[in-house]
Amino acid sequence: MKSQEIMNILFSVADMTGFDNTCDTLKCGQADKEVKKAAVTMFPTVNVIKQASEWGADLLIVHEPLYYNHMDKHSDDPVELKKRQLLESTGMTVYRYHDHSHIARPDMISIGMFEALGLAGDYEYETDGLIRYHLKVEITPRDLAALMEKRLNIKHLRIAGSIDTPCRVLSGKFGSPGGVGRELRNDKCEIILVGEVCEWADCEYARDAAQLGYKKAIITMGHIPSERNGMMYIADILKEKCPDIEVKYLESGEVFDYT
Ligand SMILES: [Fe+2]
Ligand SMILES: [Fe+2]
Repeated sequence: MKSQEIMNILFSVADMTGFDNTCDTLKCGQADKEVKKAAVTMFPTVNVIKQASEWGADLLIVHEPLYYNHMDKHSDDPVELKKRQLLESTGMTVYRYHDHSHIARPDMISIGMFEALGLAGDYEYETDGLIRYHLKVEITPRDLAALMEKRLNIKHLRIAGSIDTPCRVLSGKFGSPGGVGRELRNDKCEIILVGEVCEWADCEYARDAAQLGYKKAIITMGHIPSERNGMMYIADILKEKCPDIEVKYLESGEVFDYT
């Protein structure tokens, strides 16, 4: 199968009507490259590019940009230049797969994340794409965070707000989304799972709300851990839809180290 044919299968999951400026384009290599091995990752770090090339990937599918901006414009900055040269030397074809995964209904990244928690519950879908997960059994943000560290293999989670109050509703704000403050103020919202968050506005709101007796908490996961199970889920979908190619998820690792 050719790279573009594989991507067209993945792109077909979303109705992109009215969305004419997607970042989900060919970033490097050839659209008609024949693919036997496809690697999927969250962030195309230098090490992921090397790993994919060593594995023999013909196609690399990435959720996040190569060059630190949404549309992947790149410059003569030495880091960007060396990364580009490395990538071109591998001969791999690289496509971004971001917008389609989020615009699909339901949002594929959110579903992959909630499923990876392994907790029984029911989905609630908002028209703007936000998903809430209503747990069958209540859990405190503290216990949930500990469970997430284990099940999602996250180094360090941070919790703001009502840390020891049993909750039932999880709102998915994975990655670096807008609208965390709006969701916090929604009566349905109890715990928000977020990748990156604005501490001074959203976390302080959650803290004040908790100190006033409300059931409001934010669990901050970090960007990569908050979306990578979504890309693993997409790698599994690709395996099902394209059984003749080898598909492998490559781990980019978290961006932060800790003392
Ligand atoms: Fe993201
Ligand atoms: Fe994302």
